[in-house]
Amino acid sequence: MVKTEKQIAGIRKACHLTRDILNALEDRISPGIATEQINTWVHEMTVNAGATPAPLNYRGYPKSVCTSINEVICHGIPTPERVLQEGDILNVDVTSILEGYYGDCSRMFLIGEVSNEARKLVEVTRECLYRAIEQVRPGSRVGDVGHAIQAHAERHGYSVVRAFVGHGTGVEFHEAPDIPHYGSPGTGTIFVPNMVFTIEPMINAGGFHVTVLEDGWTAVTSDGSLSAQWEHTLRVMEDGAEILTE
Ligand code: MF3
Ligand code: CO
Ligand code: CO
Repeated sequence: MVKTEKQIAGIRKACHLTRDILNALEDRISPGIATEQINTWVHEMTVNAGATPAPLNYRGYPKSVCTSINEVICHGIPTPERVLQEGDILNVDVTSILEGYYGDCSRMFLIGEVSNEARKLVEVTRECLYRAIEQVRPGSRVGDVGHAIQAHAERHGYSVVRAFVGHGTGVEFHEAPDIPHYGSPGTGTIFVPNMVFTIEPMINAGGFHVTVLEDGWTAVTSDGSLSAQWEHTLRVMEDGAEILTE
């Protein structure tokens, strides 16, 4: 689970590309844009950078990015029919493979004016990610990360999705260890320098149960409540975490 300096340099480049792609979307995403258009932008920016979109054909996934709107928790598939509407909340999850190394990052986009309820969910979910990152240093544990997220989400009356977790990454898309976004302090894998993994909490306004649609990918909240997600790829440093995708 520990990367070499050479691997970390390569992973950092891939992570910076995913960040740059998401930054470039900030000015383009607005009401009236189809999720298919986002897919085209991400695909073209990735290929133009000499990289490969990791989602495309990954276990049969048909597109180059995941676009997850409102009650969609994750793995939403871009389509020409789904056009962004005022009030939607959207997660765009970009994973790039550059020179054999992976960078994985997602963030939320507010489409036009959104309800106070939706804005609050998005903001608290972002706070969950950053509180979790504060737990990362040599000697702290996977359960410390999960606990920080779960405590903050549940304090606001939200629930933490159990069915999907953060993950080691860098040389493959999904590596050990799993990083659950719930848990108990002082439990689980102990962090050591140069481990690389994602933290990507999925937080629901209602219950945590997940339903996967007939397409085999799109994961929605079983109760139809809103869901938000933010993701970074991190490296354990001697005194904390390097946010590789920031
Ligand atoms: N990027 C997602 C993650 O954070 C995984 C997407 S798998 C795909 O782990 F096949 F849907 F792209
Ligand atoms: Co991930
Ligand atoms: Co991701």
